[in-house]
Amino acid sequence: MSLDMIIGTQWGDEGKGHITDLLAAKADIIARFSGGDNAGHTITIAGEVFKLHLIPSGIIHPGVTCLIGSGVVVNPAVMLREMAGLAQRGVDVGPGRLKLSRKAHLITPAHIALDKAREKERGAGAIGTTQRGIGPAYTDKVARSGLRAGLLDKPEELAEAIYAHINEKNRILTELYGEEPLDATAVSADYAHYAQQLAPHLVECGLMLDDALQNGRFVLAEGAQGTLLDIDHGTYPFVTSSAPTAGGALTGLGVGPKNVGRIIGVAKAFSSRVGSGPFITELDGELAMRLRGTGANPWDEYGTTTGRPRRVGWLDLNVLHHARRVNSLTEFVVTKLDILSGIAEIPVCVAYDLHGQRINYLPSSLEELAQCQPIYETLPGWDEDIMQVRHLADLPANARRYVEFIVEQTAVPVSHISVGPGREQFIPVTNL
Ligand code: IMP
Repeated sequence: MSLDMIIGTQWGDEGKGHITDLLAAKADIIARFSGGDNAGHTITIAGEVFKLHLIPSGIIHPGVTCLIGSGVVVNPAVMLREMAGLAQRGVDVGPGRLKLSRKAHLITPAHIALDKAREKERGAGAIGTTQRGIGPAYTDKVARSGLRAGLLDKPEELAEAIYAHINEKNRILTELYGEEPLDATAVSADYAHYAQQLAPHLVECGLMLDDALQNGRFVLAEGAQGTLLDIDHGTYPFVTSSAPTAGGALTGLGVGPKNVGRIIGVAKAFSSRVGSGPFITELDGELAMRLRGTGANPWDEYGTTTGRPRRVGWLDLNVLHHARRVNSLTEFVVTKLDILSGIAEIPVCVAYDLHGQRINYLPSSLEELAQCQPIYETLPGWDEDIMQVRHLADLPANARRYVEFIVEQTAVPVSHISVGPGREQFIPVTNL
């Protein structure tokens, strides 16, 4: 068997949880490979809506082993909180099925304080981070001064390392940003406590996955965020601090490319973005409200982690071309097609105009990107409610045409279409 990947093709929030849920039933291991609790997915357990930020959503499938991989940054307090919430609902989160890579890095309260202080300092130029300490934790990792999860089974070493870490960050927090210092003794005591509970979950991530793959197991890499938030290939600096792309899945898990099977790019039928940064097809006014929803439903366009209303806009095929190039996508899963029902004419951005030239890529310079104008093709809409459709043949002709247009333009097949938040609201596609 192989390693399949689920990758966000836009700015995150594409609805990756939905296809993960569908494939999870067949998976032996589901692994997160990048990011941390900046991600968010909403799952339903026994009719109850539950939000997870760190633990792979596959945890609700009995028999699947969940792994928080080496490329992830982990806030141990969040991990324990999510474990407790799941355990309360009868989900097994024991060390037999929930594993944490020794090479993952720990997020501390100092990382969170620094994330907030740096955002405040950026003022109008703020990135709009989730303020979960993600950037500062990755900064320490790359500066080779991070705290790895492997320390969790060496409580004395961990306590010393945390104490020194908090004291060092306190100097930055107080002297550079004028913030209050943190209590190093209290934080190291907290981490000693977390360590006791999390140490049994530690594993050698690459070894575990190699063993699984050699033995014919099916591993599913569950992406967080999206390609346009990639630290290298996103709209830098308005990005996250890790690689939510196919390459990031390999480095974040410690396995090589020969194991890879399907690389599934999840593309929402329109675009959304939380936080600052370029967004060529962004809409405002009534149409934006229409795409965003009111917030009354958990699947409306409001941040799962921050609750912020998401910026929304038309589908941008340049973004999908970019995702295809960066990730070698084998297929798209198109999500939230039902949200477009009732819009008479649907513009799709097919290229940008940059100084009179038609381009099919995103310029890496933010200045140039800001000068790009979307070139739209307008497709006819459909009025029918498609949320109950389960077969391609039953989709209104124009809804089908919309998906066919994506396939024609990107030369990437579509394998599934989602038409609602429910587990069963999926249309398998065989012959588009
Ligand atoms: P950070 O990852 O908290 O540092 O935030 C950096 C940028 O990535 C901000 O614009 C966030 O809104 C965005 N971001 C991070 N995680 C997600 C996600 O899971 N979905 C959508 N946007 C995200």
